[in-house]
Amino acid sequence: MNNQKAIDGIIAKYNGKKGALIPLLQEVQEIDRYLSKDAMRYVSEKTDVKLAQIYGVATFYTMFRLKPQGKHIIRICKGTACHVSDANSILKQLRETLQLEGDEDTTKNGIFTLMEVACLGCCSLAPVMMINDDTFGKLVPESISEILKKYK
Ligand code: FES
Repeated sequence: MNNQKAIDGIIAKYNGKKGALIPLLQEVQEIDRYLSKDAMRYVSEKTDVKLAQIYGVATFYTMFRLKPQGKHIIRICKGTACHVSDANSILKQLRETLQLEGDEDTTKNGIFTLMEVACLGCCSLAPVMMINDDTFGKLVPESISEILKKYK
């Protein structure tokens, strides 16, 4: 694993601090944008925390990602207002444009990860999606490929 140095630095920063497991894992996650099994195993080896406990925390909290993530995160809203504004057709268009098959959520080139989320807090713009911190509202399927081009 080639992130050992970075992880060592994070472990040193939290060394001995109570309740540090969650922020420690969050920082480790930032290195690769997800928590790999190797990273969790390494943290366990270097701390007194059992791997089962680390894995338990990583699977319990939604902010932890256990699969590789794309460079850009797309959040498509499936909340009620967006749902009734046909968010499904936006989702379908996104999956087609990104060429995601089956239950894949990250493109093969590692550029995009697509996530379905509940209300993004801007229902008047339904249907809505966010790419990283940018919000796109009043979406129609035809607008998707043009929006995605900006992020390649
Ligand atoms: S339901 Fe989609 S933003 Fe609120």
